[in-house]
Amino acid sequence: MGSPVIICHMISSIDGRILPDRWTRPAGDVDRDTLVNQYYEIEKWYNADGWIIGRSTASEHFVKDTEPLQVITNRLPRETYVAHREAERMAIFMDPHGKLQYERGDIDGDAIVAVLGEAVADEYLRFLQNRGVSYCFAGSDGHDVRKAVDILGQTFGRRKLLLEGGGRINGAFLKAGVINKISLMLYPGIDGLRGIASSFDCVGAKDEIFASGQALNLKHAEKRENGVLWLQYDVEKTSA
Ligand SMILES: NC(=O)c1ccc[n+]([C@@H]2O[C@H](COP(=O)([O-])OP(=O)(O)OC[C@H]3O[C@@H](n4cnc5c(N)ncnc54)[C@H](OP(=O)(O)O)[C@@H]3O)[C@@H](O)[C@H]2O)c1
Repeated sequence: MGSPVIICHMISSIDGRILPDRWTRPAGDVDRDTLVNQYYEIEKWYNADGWIIGRSTASEHFVKDTEPLQVITNRLPRETYVAHREAERMAIFMDPHGKLQYERGDIDGDAIVAVLGEAVADEYLRFLQNRGVSYCFAGSDGHDVRKAVDILGQTFGRRKLLLEGGGRINGAFLKAGVINKISLMLYPGIDGLRGIASSFDCVGAKDEIFASGQALNLKHAEKRENGVLWLQYDVEKTSA
């Protein structure tokens, strides 16, 4: 099996920022959540076989985190562990240091896959196995996004995955050149504060062009209820 199609699906203010609680209220007598919920409608429409988020988003919305365990022993092989091969949908958490403290192996029926760095403690791997959580490794520091995507396709059989933030994990996928499509929902509001998380927050030098060699081809633009815009782009490889 090859690599899955990766669709980055996000909702942002018109200034590209991604923390909904900070956005201006919508016009008219309608609340912010009504608009933001359109994000979940489109998420369902994609009918993907999994979704990927970064450790910060995971700990904010789904699973408590803690300081990683100190490495006491390092004897277990750093090999992919599959708890649920047949799962229809998977919830994939990019957690390089093994901070997330899962209570069970799924989120609302979606089987969890933890993507880790090889330096996590054996004790953490045993903890995941006991909780029924699958795991795999994205290189020694857990940042090898391309490797993770290959494993998700080849070992976990994923064909279509939504990459759902936050900005730092999206930035890492963008820099690695593994995003095939972008689905951006533009909320008709503004954040305005410099430094707030945005759809793509790469880490690197000021003169680095992170999406170098990639161009966006607009495939669909839709004006939806209450002024939300839905933009779909293909990410195409270019020569420079
Ligand atoms: N509006 C939207 O559509 C939307 C969608 C999702 C999230 N959000 C919001 O976005 C905010 C979080 O965004 P964020 O950018 O701060 O965090 P994030 O992208 O959710 O998570 C970043 C973390 O992911 C881990 N990671 C794994 N692989 C990595 C790699 N290759 N490169 C870099 N980091 C990697 C690191 O964890 P360690 O720190 O443990 O090393 C890193 O700190 C939340 O407030 C959330 O609510 C908004």
